[in-house]
Amino acid sequence: MSEILRFENVGLRYGLGPEILQDISFRLETSSFHFLIGPSGAGKSSLLRLMYLAHRPTRGRVSLFGRDISTLPRNDVPSLRRRMGVVFQEFRLLNHLSAFDNVALPLRVTGLRESDIRKHVEELLSWVGLRNHLDSRPPTLSGGQQQRIAIARAVIARPQILYADEPTGNVDDRIAARIMHLFEELNKLGTTVVIATHNKTMVRETGHAVMSLEKGTLSVQGKAGKDFSDKVGSEIGKVLGRRRKSEV
Ligand SMILES: Nc1ncnc2c1ncn2[C@@H]1O[C@H](COP(=O)(O)OP(=O)(O)O)[C@@H](O)[C@H]1O
Ligand SMILES: [Mg+2]
Repeated sequence: MSEILRFENVGLRYGLGPEILQDISFRLETSSFHFLIGPSGAGKSSLLRLMYLAHRPTRGRVSLFGRDISTLPRNDVPSLRRRMGVVFQEFRLLNHLSAFDNVALPLRVTGLRESDIRKHVEELLSWVGLRNHLDSRPPTLSGGQQQRIAIARAVIARPQILYADEPTGNVDDRIAARIMHLFEELNKLGTTVVIATHNKTMVRETGHAVMSLEKGTLSVQGKAGKDFSDKVGSEIGKVLGRRRKSEV
């Protein structure tokens, strides 16, 4: 297996404040699946921001896709960003666009035909329970509905790595299970997945590797093994897999 992300002795502070992440070292293999857990304020969102290159570390080294971030020319960042999907804790949808257009955005930049875009976006939004809200603008929807648009937008272009920050924080258990299933299927198609959560049940049931943050330091526990998604059927796998990677 090849490596996709590596942190070596990384530290982060905001401005002149204390170091909120200390001596963070780990490596993620391509196509692995990790939960990032820890109490509120432990630094999960901050660590994810380092992973998706929204912040540079105050010290230490971050490499993504084999590139050392500290020597990465600014012009190269957008092309790396297109290989990542991010579900932000605060969604960051474009409020003047419909749910459909928010999710279509990452496909539009790939030059896929509009008729294909329509099909894929409608299938995915239906999967997350938003078939009746394709034309709704985010501000008219609930937090849970907006969160599902953000998730659909992050996965639609089948990114090489997906980061999700508390992606089931605003939805009920049934929808949370569907969303987890979506991430599982994306992972089976080759995407590396990192999910920050404090939902311990979700973590236990799925049995993936766990990165645990406590007061700014990290410990990593291996994969427990149980494959949760096999027992759920793979309808969404078909939706995601129908597009060959070359199409996107
Ligand atoms: N932009 C910021 N500026 C200053 N301090 C921040 C900022 N973002 C987070 N922090 C602080 O960093 C610590 C970790 O926060 P965060 O990464 O949001 O943790 P979590 O996502 O685990 O709740 C907290 O003490 C928080 O107040
Ligand atoms: Mg957070």
